[in-house]
Amino acid sequence: MPIFRTNAGKEPQVDMANLPRHIAIIMDGNGRWAKKRGLPRTAGHAAGAETFRTIATYCKEIGLDYLTVYAFSTENWKRPAEEVGAIMGLLKKYLLEAIGKMERDKVKMEFFGDLSPLTPELRELCERTREISKGYDGCQVNICLNYGGRDELIRAARAFAQDCVDGKCNPQSLEPDRFGDYLFSAGIPDPDLVIRPSGELRLSNFLLWQSAYAEFYFTDVLWPDFSKQELHRAIAAYQSRSRRFGGV
Ligand code: FPP
Repeated sequence: MPIFRTNAGKEPQVDMANLPRHIAIIMDGNGRWAKKRGLPRTAGHAAGAETFRTIATYCKEIGLDYLTVYAFSTENWKRPAEEVGAIMGLLKKYLLEAIGKMERDKVKMEFFGDLSPLTPELRELCERTREISKGYDGCQVNICLNYGGRDELIRAARAFAQDCVDGKCNPQSLEPDRFGDYLFSAGIPDPDLVIRPSGELRLSNFLLWQSAYAEFYFTDVLWPDFSKQELHRAIAAYQSRSRRFGGV
């Protein structure tokens, strides 16, 4: 199975009994999807939010344990204010809907990133979804919001250094598992599969620590066109790989 997939090819066979535990997705290509249709970029994000709904619902249906999506990076603030506002508006809409369906769907929601620059309203919605769903034990959806891998690592390093200064630990005691406890993803297994649509072959500051042993799947499909079938292709590619974690 090639690392990078173009649209052609035969249909994938997925072994549903052997799914990855954790899938992470860089939801890329919204702007290009809109441009191809002569629409504003914000229309691409709205279509991308629909795709997120479809894929998150499907991940829950097939029994995936964790889905992590990159919704807004620490660098995305450089975009025009109108576009930033539109993405935040879509998040608000999604969270309000999610709150309405939580009792039925039992999807646990978490947020990776520094939420402090968000509007008080959006912060409150994040906090409410997190709080309502914290006891659920089905699929967990992590939304990366004002998230950057380097930012996360620096925060973790600072917090660990502070704990050393406060006498709670010493530098020699730091091990990879322990360091993981300082990350937004504390307590969550690393992603097994990282998917990036839209033809870009890079990580863009996403889950830098957590992706150390992830399998990668790249496709030229733009995120708004990403379908369940495309997810099947990614999972089938994952299932065809031999994971050795540095061993033989
Ligand atoms: C990257 O595509 C996408 C984003 C920066 C925003 C992603 C946001 C959403 C899918 C909507 C809100 C999310 C939720 C969870 C409801 P791009 O704009 O960089 O695309 P381009 O590379 O084609 O320009």
